[in-house]
Amino acid sequence: MLFVTKLASVIAVAAVVAPLALSTAPLNAAGGDAVIKARIDLMRKDVLSNWKPIKAYAKSGKGTPADVSRHAKALGSAAKKIPALFPKGTGRGDYPDKVTRALPEIWKDWKGFEKATQGLVDQSAKLAKIADGGDKDAIVKQIGMTGKIGCGGCHKPFRGAKVKK
Ligand code: HEC
Repeated sequence: MLFVTKLASVIAVAAVVAPLALSTAPLNAAGGDAVIKARIDLMRKDVLSNWKPIKAYAKSGKGTPADVSRHAKALGSAAKKIPALFPKGTGRGDYPDKVTRALPEIWKDWKGFEKATQGLVDQSAKLAKIADGGDKDAIVKQIGMTGKIGCGGCHKPFRGAKVKK
């Protein structure tokens, strides 16, 4: 129930900020704080929560190819929600480094950021397809690609170093 409520609030925030993502107007402070929280929630609850069992399969053979396929599909759906949660004016520079790790490069190179998003969408789709085939070696290889291109392809250029809170 708690999960459902939280999910509903993330969707509500996403719905509110989505049109703003297309405009150049910076958000007011309260809106900015909410959207930063919503995207970190998305990363933890929808992205990382599906990535963890996928990685566990590659690392220690935990779970089945069907599990990998299911989580890969969920990962792809979560990825599609990323850009709407990054309206202009909500990165480092506008907010303290301890509040957000989003680098200004995101808005300097918005096309690149969208491309990085698409990278995770594409790699996840590929992973789901390969997992459906059931070949363990191929699955493990594609999990590596998904981490490298899907997560790393965005974190490297667009996410700054962690700082102490
Ligand atoms: C298109 C860009 C993009 C993709 C793709 C992406 N991330 Fe992120 N991620 C970010 C940014 C930017 C932040 C920092 C957000 C903030 O602090 O406001 C972040 C934050 C996070 C966080 C929150 C905690 C922290 O330390 O910042 C986790 C966990 C995370 N990402 C995991 C993942 C995993 C796992 C993948 C791949 C399966 C992934 N991300 C793919 C851009 C991305």
